[in-house]
Amino acid sequence: MKYGHFDNSAREYVIDRVDVPVSWTNYIGVNRACAVLSQNAGGYSFHQHPEFGRITRFRPNAVPMDWPGHWVYLRDDADGDYWSISWQPVGKPLDQARYSAAHGLSYSRYRADYRGIEAEQTIFITREDDVEIWDVRLRNTGDTARTLSLFSYVEFSFHTIEIDNQNFQMSLYAAGADYADGVIDYDFYYEPWAHHFHTASFEPDSFDTTREAWVGDYRTERNPLAVETGRCSGSAQTTGNHCGALHSAFTIEPGREHRVILMMGYGDREVGRAVRAKYSDPARVDAAFDDLRQFWDRKLASFQVASPHAGLDTMANIWTLYQAEVCVMWSRFASFIETGGRTGLGYRDTAQDVMAVAHTNPEKVRQRIRELLNGQMGEGFGLHLFDPTWFATDYSDPALPVRGETRIPESAMHGPWWACSDDHLWLVPSILEYVRETGDVGFLDEVVPFADGGQAPVWEHMKRGLDYSAKYVGSSGICMTMRADWNDCLNLGDGESAMVSFLHHWALVEFVEAARRLGRVADAEHYEQMRRGVQEACERELWDGAWYARGVTRTGRRIGVGADAEAKVFIESNTWAIVSGAAAPERASRALDAIDEYLYSPWGLHLLAPSYTVRDDEVGFVTRVYPGVKENGAIFSHPNPWAVVAAAQLGQGDRAMRFYDALLPYNQNDRIEVRQAEPYSYCQFVYGSQHPLHGRARHPWLTGSAGWNYTAVTKWILGVRVGYDELVVDPCVPADWDGFRVTRRWRGARFDITVQNPDRVSRGVAVLELDGEPVDRIPVQPEGSTHSVRVVLG
Ligand code: GLC
Repeated sequence: MKYGHFDNSAREYVIDRVDVPVSWTNYIGVNRACAVLSQNAGGYSFHQHPEFGRITRFRPNAVPMDWPGHWVYLRDDADGDYWSISWQPVGKPLDQARYSAAHGLSYSRYRADYRGIEAEQTIFITREDDVEIWDVRLRNTGDTARTLSLFSYVEFSFHTIEIDNQNFQMSLYAAGADYADGVIDYDFYYEPWAHHFHTASFEPDSFDTTREAWVGDYRTERNPLAVETGRCSGSAQTTGNHCGALHSAFTIEPGREHRVILMMGYGDREVGRAVRAKYSDPARVDAAFDDLRQFWDRKLASFQVASPHAGLDTMANIWTLYQAEVCVMWSRFASFIETGGRTGLGYRDTAQDVMAVAHTNPEKVRQRIRELLNGQMGEGFGLHLFDPTWFATDYSDPALPVRGETRIPESAMHGPWWACSDDHLWLVPSILEYVRETGDVGFLDEVVPFADGGQAPVWEHMKRGLDYSAKYVGSSGICMTMRADWNDCLNLGDGESAMVSFLHHWALVEFVEAARRLGRVADAEHYEQMRRGVQEACERELWDGAWYARGVTRTGRRIGVGADAEAKVFIESNTWAIVSGAAAPERASRALDAIDEYLYSPWGLHLLAPSYTVRDDEVGFVTRVYPGVKENGAIFSHPNPWAVVAAAQLGQGDRAMRFYDALLPYNQNDRIEVRQAEPYSYCQFVYGSQHPLHGRARHPWLTGSAGWNYTAVTKWILGVRVGYDELVVDPCVPADWDGFRVTRRWRGARFDITVQNPDRVSRGVAVLELDGEPVDRIPVQPEGSTHSVRVVLG
């Protein structure tokens, strides 16, 4: 069963049936303001910070699931019948009204066709001044003039999510709203600098600013009093719950269009007036929308593929990049699942996310890396969850008008034993990927403070991380797990983590290569020696005969081994044994076979198998998670692309594609009755085969699988990667592909790459040509130049 389709020429996903089983969301905004909205225009918005800068309210995990929203109601003033442009909240029966929604890159559009009125609401946020625009167009398709009323509606939120959701004795008495000059101003008396405005291109015929007045007693947003009676009540008061509702009454002649612009944002009435003056002009709205389109055009142009695989093209060219960008832009705490209560940066998640988008968002990647380095302790590990604003020189706690003595909450500071042992290791390859992409070698010498005082160049930060991992090892030489490694639920404490030692090896390989290229000879030697030691320990301690163990408990029990009845095989240790380069070729190939044999399903690769059913606190929380769910043997999405990379690195193109295809949301577009979640976004997990809901996907958008799948498909299947001074094209594709084309922009030059596969192989470059000449490598090219690259596999 399907609910919609990919429209690649418009770069949209069109939801043809809006009664999808769970909310299908999108992210609106690319700078300081953001709205997370569903196919029903349900959802919420914030300015800069989803924890402290809320603009509109959301009722998390509620019934209905995506209320309230950013809504427009229409009313036929001839008979009082009313509906909304998004299907909800009014929810007209779908056999009487035609509804659809489209999610595009940083905008969403809602359409209703009801009783001779075609209505459309496009929501986006201008890049120039962070104004949320609702571009509303109505067409009278009938043959009589219609007298209609239009009502906008949003419910404002107290600025701080915790207060808005828990501390009503305060929130209900600390804000007010009123109307003047066409602008509703919602003010936080408590935070005098904070206001929200809502305004429109029309002179309102009526307005409301208090929620209860607008909705009316014993009603909901489905049948609000104002809409039912055709007029708002003019409510305004300090204290209470507030809304922005503006009403316009008008007539549309047959065949004519009526367009109005609604606007919302952060700022007081003065700001609102200026915004109103600017964006009441539809030409300005069109220009702002075009500007947003061009912003994404430029990003997408960095990498475009045309291959024999339509789903791969759609996802790599548009949706997976978009999802990866969303994770970096809004960093992980604003969705319908994460509703803004935890903000800041998750160390490991951000350190991985940035790796994927260095080519499309180098400035943001650089900023995030600096923030992470600033959240690194002098001993080398990262603060697992921290807010970069703590370290800003002009820091003041946005939640409080009082000033404390310490900037960093004590609960966030932790020592080496409460670290997640993987956090800092992801950052080393990410930094080096940024340098390879941009050529910004000078970044490595930039001085960045540590979280606990002192400062050092970026290069030294990397060394501290590598040293920390070398220091905290168990008796066998394998890295200790500490609080957890990548797997939050595997809590081996001072037991050991195979995955972390493999990650350590990977980071060391990357670091040593960089040290050699930059002529940092002593570091190259020292860390090469460290690398060799790590590799020896891994090979000595972790091989279990047919695959690699996952770790060792604090009492010395090895887990993830053939002798175990449960959780015999884990994906993390076996993929990283390969991707890190630590595993000997014969073992690497057997480990990959084990992944395929024990973990594969048509919905993706399981994290482990079989799932734990017996609680075991020496292993950790994973044994208290239901079998087949999340870390306990679901198809956890994030490690799936690691297996794709591993297969590609071993030259197994068919297998790499089979793994990639199994998880690919695009491939599940026609099976939404099972998947449920949106088919344009990777989800955190898909229920595993040991659970009755096998195949159902949950937690869209904010997952490391976006960046990693993007990396897997672009750099390892298509094989287009950047080195310090060369572009590498080394694909690993299914043997039945006859070739593909890629356009890649790198350091200001454009490369039009054609790969041909006459011998139907998976891997191996037989011919490499640059601008028609045979070459053995593709060096950096002058900015602004365009080049053709031809590769023949064989
Ligand atoms: C969640 C966390 C991520 C972790 C993963 C596995 O997705 O955000 O940090 O690695 O779970 O536990």
